[in-house]
Amino acid sequence: MVSYKELGLVNTREMFRKAIEGKYAVPAFNFNNMEQMQAIVSACVETSSPVILQVSSGARKYANQTILRYMAQGAVEYAKELGKAIPIVLHLDHGDSFELCKSCIDMGFSSVMIDGSHLPYEENVALTRKVVEYAHQFDVTVEGELGVLAGIEDDVKAEHHTYTEPDDVVDFVSRTGVDSLAISIGTSHGANKFKPEQCTRNAEGILVPPPLRFDILAEIEKRIPGFPIVLHGASSVPQDMVAIINKYGGAVKDAVGIPEDQLRKAAESAVCKINIDSDGRLAMTAAIREVLATKPAEFDPRKYLGPAREWLKKLYMHKVNDVLGSAGKA
Ligand code: G3H
Ligand code: 13P
Ligand code: ZN
Repeated sequence: MVSYKELGLVNTREMFRKAIEGKYAVPAFNFNNMEQMQAIVSACVETSSPVILQVSSGARKYANQTILRYMAQGAVEYAKELGKAIPIVLHLDHGDSFELCKSCIDMGFSSVMIDGSHLPYEENVALTRKVVEYAHQFDVTVEGELGVLAGIEDDVKAEHHTYTEPDDVVDFVSRTGVDSLAISIGTSHGANKFKPEQCTRNAEGILVPPPLRFDILAEIEKRIPGFPIVLHGASSVPQDMVAIINKYGGAVKDAVGIPEDQLRKAAESAVCKINIDSDGRLAMTAAIREVLATKPAEFDPRKYLGPAREWLKKLYMHKVNDVLGSAGKA
């Protein structure tokens, strides 16, 4: 059993309290390798932002649980070496069972998500409650979810959004004891968040998705004032990155994300954690494709993973500075 406290990590409690008070959101960036971790930590140190390092169950299998524990400790030490001990959370993204959450808690995670959003309501309550009871013994914070995002979450695919029902949130939060709640208000996972026919086109021919349901968010906030809300599926799918990928042989079609002005607006509300994975994947792939296409003789991985890390860092700094508002809050 490894406590996150020994690794120098923190849980989300204080982080979220400050984020709600300060009207910003903490970035939750997914990672599964060294370059992504370095880019996240260096971007957040340079901008002085708190950060949530987020690992999906697939990413945990990919990276290995023991390596991840040392990477998280490495992230804490790396931040100090770069000049600022920013608060860092190690969070399980979309945990789908009690056993997975327990195993992460036992291996140094400071926060876990138990995603029972696909289950019948009472089963979601019971599973979430069970995880909270275990996690809180170790001062690990827990994120639950109500409502289903359209798109793909690990192996589960939902055709349509099931928006969070504001009338459920008081009951769910009080009966489960969760520390934060992920909601469904129109975001979705991946780089193809909406079908082109769901969108309109602006003057430049760019697809513009339907707006987020801020009315539902407002209703939720009314029911649980000051309670930390989480937004998944919040990548904006930068079109310049998509264009570079496609220019150099990629085939990322009809990719469309959440406009940044909507995320800025959400960050000013009780939304205090914003999840971003796909944008990092796009930036990394664009950088690697560009190097491989323009320097075909190159075969030293550092020559394409190095630029990928730089592009990622730039992307994360932009998110922190211009979208989430967490710069300077560490
Ligand atoms: O919400 C899902 C995240 O983007 C993680 O995706 O399961 O492919 O690692 P993954
Ligand atoms: P994106 O696919 O929009 O980056 O969402 C990531 C996410 O919600 C991880 O839980
Ligand atoms: Zn998610």
